[in-house]
Order: sequence, then C-alpha cells, then structure tokens
Amino acid sequence: MPVTVIVGAQWGDEGKGKLTDALAAESALVIRAQGGNNAGHTVVVGDETYKLHLLPSGILRQETPCLITDGVAINPQVLLGEIEALQERDLPCDNLTISPRCHLILPYHIALDEGQESSQLTRIGTTKRGNGPVFADKMSRLGIRIAHLAEPDALRAALEENLTLKNPVLRGVFGHPGFEVGPLMDELLALWPDLEPFVGDPLPVVHAALEADAPILVEGAQGVLLDINFDMYPYVTSSHPGASGATLGTGIPVNRITEIIGVVKAYTTRVGVGPFPTEQSGDIADALRERGGEYGTTTGRPRRIGWLDLPLLRHACDTNGFTSLCVTKVDVLDDLETIPVCSSYLKGHDRLTEFPHTLRGWELVEPVYQQLAGWRTDTSRAAINADLPPALQTYLGRIEGATGVPVNYVSCGASREALVKRR
Ligand code: IMP
Repeated sequence: MPVTVIVGAQWGDEGKGKLTDALAAESALVIRAQGGNNAGHTVVVGDETYKLHLLPSGILRQETPCLITDGVAINPQVLLGEIEALQERDLPCDNLTISPRCHLILPYHIALDEGQESSQLTRIGTTKRGNGPVFADKMSRLGIRIAHLAEPDALRAALEENLTLKNPVLRGVFGHPGFEVGPLMDELLALWPDLEPFVGDPLPVVHAALEADAPILVEGAQGVLLDINFDMYPYVTSSHPGASGATLGTGIPVNRITEIIGVVKAYTTRVGVGPFPTEQSGDIADALRERGGEYGTTTGRPRRIGWLDLPLLRHACDTNGFTSLCVTKVDVLDDLETIPVCSSYLKGHDRLTEFPHTLRGWELVEPVYQQLAGWRTDTSRAAINADLPPALQTYLGRIEGATGVPVNYVSCGASREALVKRR
C-alpha cells in the first residue's frame, strides 16, 4: 500500500486540506510533517467549516490516527486552542499523537518575528507566527522542544540561555521589554498537563504502519515556491514544504514514498512580499479574489492574484517528482471567456531557460502568455470526469503537456464532495 505525500505546488493556499481530508478516508495514518501555525487549512464538511493550523486535516475523521511529527514547530497555546475548539464540536482528538521532538514556538520567537517585520530590516511579509526565529534556533542548536516540558530543570536552563541571547536584541534593536524566565516557566508548565496526554514518540507508529503496508498520508503545508532553498530567497518560509520535507519531518525512508500529489490552483495566489511574475491588479484580480475567497486563513490578509505560471509549476514538478496533480478552484474561473496561462519567460528578447538567482533578476522576468478558451460552464456540481466541460479538459491537458504529470484530481468547490477523480 502506498505512502502518499500531498505537496503544495505554488505559494501555499492551494487547497491541500481538502484533498487531505478526502484521502484520509482511505488512510490508516495521517501525518503533519513540517512548518508551523503559519499554515492555515480550511476543510468544509457539510455545513461545518473547520480552520486548522497545526492539526492534520485528517483529525476530522476520528477513526484515523493522526501524528504531528518532528519537522513541525508548535506553539503550544495555539495547538491546545485548536484541540479545545474541536472538542467543543464533539471531536475529542483522541486520535492525535504529537512528537516530543517538535520545537516549541515561544513568545520571544513571535516578538522577534514581529520586530523584524516592523523594523527597517528586510520585510518578508511573514505571518508573524514566529516561524523564522524558531527554525533559526533549531538550526543553531538553541531550540526548546516539547520534551523539555517534562523536565523543568532542563526547561529553565534552556530558557535562561535563550533569553541571554534574545533579550538584548529585543530590547536594544526592537524596543521590546524582553522576557523573564519565571513567568515563561509558569506559563509553559501550566500548559503541560493538557498537552502531555497527546505526546508520544510517533516513530514506532510510523514504522509499524510501514511494516504492515498500511496506507499512510503525509499532509503538506505551505508550497514548494516558499522552500528556504528556492531562488526567491529571502521571500520564502523557513522550512521545506516540498516532498523532501515529508521524509525529513517524519522519519519515513525516502524509498518508501510511492505517491506524491502536487496540488495546484487553476490560477495563482501569493501572500507576503516577493516576486510574482504573473501577478495581476485591478478588476480581474479583485473579481478572482472575491470569487475565490482569497483571504489568508491564518492572517486574513488579501492574497495577491495572478495567472497560472507553467514554468514555476514545471519547477515544482521537477524538484518534487509529482506522480499526479490535483488542480483546485477551477470553479473560480467558470465565467471567464479566455484564460491567460504563462507558458514561458522572457528577459529582454531572450527566452529564459533557468530561473534568476537574484531578486533583481526576477524583476526583469517577463511572462509570455498563451490565451486558452474559458469553459463558461458551472462546474460546481461536477462529480465525474465526463462532467468537466471540453474547454476545461483542454486547460488540464495544457498543464499535463507542460509538466508531463497527469492531472488525476480536479476540485470544483469547497465542499468535501466537490472533488473529481479523473483516473
Ligand atoms: P513565515 O512562514 O510566517 O515566516 O512567512 C514567510 C512567507 O511564507 C510569507 O510570504 C508568508 O506569507 C508565507 N507563508 C507562510 N505560511 C504560509 C501558508 O500556509 N500559506 C501561504 N503563505 C504562507
């Protein structure tokens, strides 16, 4: 049975939560592998809408065990708030296990993130959830992990060390009052009794499932173009949202992954600062933003809007080895007469064959558009491939032709049912 990884193929917000929820029905285990509560996943079940940031979208199926594994950074208050909110809606979350190796996002991480965003330093347009600083600490070997909460002495020593380094920056650079060890200890230790029942080593669970050939689903967060290694650095996140993040973050061996599904919106959105070659403004951007509900799940920020960018999608396919694609939100384009799709880039008169490695280089990129016919049909009730109109089939064929990857899923609406499996 397969290990399936779901990956955002653009800048996040592609609709991964919905596909995860659908595939979770056939999975023995669902895993959230990387990122933090910078992510926001919306799942609509009947009349109920769930907005999740840290919990795997599989949590809505109570019979399916769900893991939050080592690559995820956890803000314990946010996590407990999410658990409590689901419990109030009769979802007890008994199916959840959290790795003791997850790093903790602490108040000073958020203060540093906010400080950097509101200072004269480079503004990334982060979600201000502390992700950059927490992953910086992890790599500097200064991080504090969930396991520290069970050992107050170790927690105190780690907090002292961190505040020795962070308070001078907070106070001296950002004019923040800084933090004291005592109140932070009290705050964290007060959370531990509620968190502890969910904490356990996920590795034995993962390896038992692999041994039993049980179907495992690894849920993505953010998107490939936000990977810390991508050429649009520093306008990226601080983790690895691609397929490699799934193995790094879970302990699943690379050679056990059998399916990698890239989720791509029929158009493109981005939040935060940074290059966006196919970005649009004016009426068309406003119309698509409203029609698609393109406001951040985590921050409520209006998302930037653009056309589908095939060179970037090809990059996502090439670097992740997608075995299939899921194209989402096609219903948002239902009314358009023609739909521009970026097929290549020019720099001056020359066709670009590789991405620029500098931000200045990205500014000089000019998208070349191909105009595809719109389908002008209401797709929101499509249930099978034959329900998808011919012009939409051509659109999907254009994506398959450009990437060499089959579009096996099409999502035409927010509900759990609005997902067409083409093959
Ligand atoms: P950070 O991850 O909060 O540090 O933000 C870095 C960049 O990633 C910013 O452009 C954010 O808007 C973007 N980002 C982070 N998480 C998400 C997400 O889940 N969806 C879309 N963009 C995200």
